[in-house]
Amino acid sequence: MLILGIESSCDETAAAVVEDGRRVLSDVISSQVAIHARYGGVVPEVASRQHLLQIVPVLEGALAEAEVTLDDIDAIAVTHGPGLMGSLMVGVNTAKSIAYARGLPLIGVHHLEGHTYAAWLGGGDPAVDPGFPLIVLIASGAHTDLIVMRGHGDYEVVGRTRDDAAGEAFDKAGRILGLSYPGGPAVQHAATGVSPSFKLPRAWLGDSLDFSFSGLKTAVLHKAQALGVYPAPDGGAPPTLVAEIAAAFQSSVVEVIATKAIAAVERYGAKGLVLGGGVSANGPLREACRQAPVPVIIPAPKLCTDNGSMIGAAGYYRFTRGLTHSMALDATPGLALG
Ligand code: KG4
Ligand code: ZN
Repeated sequence: MLILGIESSCDETAAAVVEDGRRVLSDVISSQVAIHARYGGVVPEVASRQHLLQIVPVLEGALAEAEVTLDDIDAIAVTHGPGLMGSLMVGVNTAKSIAYARGLPLIGVHHLEGHTYAAWLGGGDPAVDPGFPLIVLIASGAHTDLIVMRGHGDYEVVGRTRDDAAGEAFDKAGRILGLSYPGGPAVQHAATGVSPSFKLPRAWLGDSLDFSFSGLKTAVLHKAQALGVYPAPDGGAPPTLVAEIAAAFQSSVVEVIATKAIAAVERYGAKGLVLGGGVSANGPLREACRQAPVPVIIPAPKLCTDNGSMIGAAGYYRFTRGLTHSMALDATPGLALG
């Protein structure tokens, strides 16, 4: 079965053809990063206009790369939330148009369910090996969630951020340090091989599985001001100090996320730990989570950030359970998981 997966919830216009929920035949992404970089973050109106410009070429690219046509596609899966309203609408309306014109089943997918099912694109079947229940850690630009997944489509969110998402914190730290946008990869790069001479705080929140990163963000700002890194002096901030703050920030985020993810595995008797979302592309976080006492499934970095394949995969597992949507499917920016 071939599913065309479409993702447009934030700043990537993406489409992919996925066979039987596990095999990626094509994966095309048009990133708007360069456009939003000059504003230091995603500008919603600009994002939706870009999606409109890119969606048709991206879809054509995905079909061509998979060497198929719409005649070969069995169903259309699309992210219908959460995300930016204008961005989501482009994907949803495109998917509805194709489904209506071609008489194809339409499957709305929750964006975080998509990130979760990226774990199924690695060759194995996590539902069988290691099997449910799984703890899923989704760390992205908008979410930091710990989810108990007891079966396909069966989720309980047991930890979430109380303020900023981990990716948002990386992006803000990157901006304070004068690094390129998005901050995540730039902070990781700056921190590589650096052992900072100071520590930044960790928000443990008792034995809760929730997260908080806003205090850390403020600590980065204060440290940057104290060391003369922010505002950047004439001639730029000293790279060694930038690197030290980046490393101290990253080690705080990584230690808290990995510790809580492993605690969730133990608390819920999970058979495995799955990582997803853009921040799971972070090298030290991947390494720290591998210390869990169960198999750890982490998609390739390219599949951690937003893509169409993960939507095609999640769509397949909804479709095989008979879960499709009517033409009333709508973009839902605050969509809840479940
Ligand atoms: O999942 P994603 O592509 O989009 C959302 O759904 O939000 O995640 C984007 C986030 C950004 O905040 C970006 O800075 C972060 O993922 N990110 C990283 C890395 N690569 C991307 N954060 C830390 N380390 C990375 N290597
Ligand atoms: Zn995402």
